[in-house]
Amino acid sequence: MKQFITNYYKLLSSLSLAMDFCTHGLMRHHQRVALISLQIGKLYGLNLKRMENLFTAAILHDAGSSTWTEKDLLFDFFSTDTEIHCKKGYNLFKNHTLFNSIAEIILCHHDHWNGINNISGLKGNLIPVESRIIYLADRIDVLIRDDLYILEQKRHICKKINEDSYGLFDPHLVEAFNDISSRECFWLDMHSPFISEILSHHCPIISKKIGLKEVLSVADTMSKVIDFKSPFTRRHSSGVANVASYLASKAGCAEEDSKLIKVAGLLHDLGKLGIPDDILDKPGKLTNSEFNIMKKHTYYTYHILKLIDGFEDINHFASSHHETLSGRGYPFKLDASDLKHGARVIAVADIFTALTETRPYRQAMEKEEVIKILTNQVKAGAIDSELTSLLISNYEEAYMLNITV
Ligand SMILES: [Fe+2]
Ligand SMILES: [Fe+2]
Ligand SMILES: [Fe+2]
Repeated sequence: MKQFITNYYKLLSSLSLAMDFCTHGLMRHHQRVALISLQIGKLYGLNLKRMENLFTAAILHDAGSSTWTEKDLLFDFFSTDTEIHCKKGYNLFKNHTLFNSIAEIILCHHDHWNGINNISGLKGNLIPVESRIIYLADRIDVLIRDDLYILEQKRHICKKINEDSYGLFDPHLVEAFNDISSRECFWLDMHSPFISEILSHHCPIISKKIGLKEVLSVADTMSKVIDFKSPFTRRHSSGVANVASYLASKAGCAEEDSKLIKVAGLLHDLGKLGIPDDILDKPGKLTNSEFNIMKKHTYYTYHILKLIDGFEDINHFASSHHETLSGRGYPFKLDASDLKHGARVIAVADIFTALTETRPYRQAMEKEEVIKILTNQVKAGAIDSELTSLLISNYEEAYMLNITV
């Protein structure tokens, strides 16, 4: 079997898109902040190791804010509601094998140069330089409007950064910004439809490759970002991932395949970051129009994962979890002839996990009721009968895996 390998840059820059959805639409905020940061960092003379950290921190910097309400607060230039997402981001990364070196950068990424009100208690040069760069890049980006031609915005943004923000930014970094922002291309890049390609040209680690073990740890972090979006799904993604990989092993899948299924389970609801908070948290049944909006989530999961090298199977397993064998699911109307084993595993694990969780409109269901619904789904031609029987005959073990995540 071919060894699973993927491109680190594409993995992170694609997953960052899921974190960019908010009431303003898909903002590409993380990609633009990374692009501005890398240009300032290069001019400032950061070495390769720091540039790598700068890219990773910039492309993930707002991982601590999952809800649209939280994100909206950050778009105010002088926002003071920044502490929670900085701390959440720090906690997400501090013990992470790949990302522990960016935890402090994330904690300090809204720190002011003058030290006033900083949660880190640091000021000036004691604040990590990567944080100082990301803070400046982040505030430049929140000033950019998408309803006005970008070159018409240049003067206002430069004035705001240079004159109206005394004490917020490192003056040496502002000088670097003034240098790069004198070029029209800097601004045209900000509104460019080619921003992903442009960012890749500036990224110092464009060809870095990682294997399945690292991908699992990235997906695990991303699953927490997804699950933080709603208080009712705090452990849903990891629950689906654990139940699905357990079911896959029970069904005789090879270890590598079970791991791919686990990654798919962790990322299956990635597109929920693109659904408004009030629909996910609604304490009742969704209306038809709300359900139609909800249907977008697997469509987004599909298109984001499609951008990542080597993710073809993971994407199919993840984004097909609301398709049915009868062809009546969504959004692609796939049927039994299209749905591979891994996709069937995730679909069964997703229903099982959802039924055993408390939702805004109902309590977690008891075993008898869960089995009844799963059996009815098999009868209706929605989910795989063999996998469902296998899950039911190992109910207690699967249940424990789900609730102990
Ligand atoms: Fe932030
Ligand atoms: Fe930000
Ligand atoms: Fe879903």
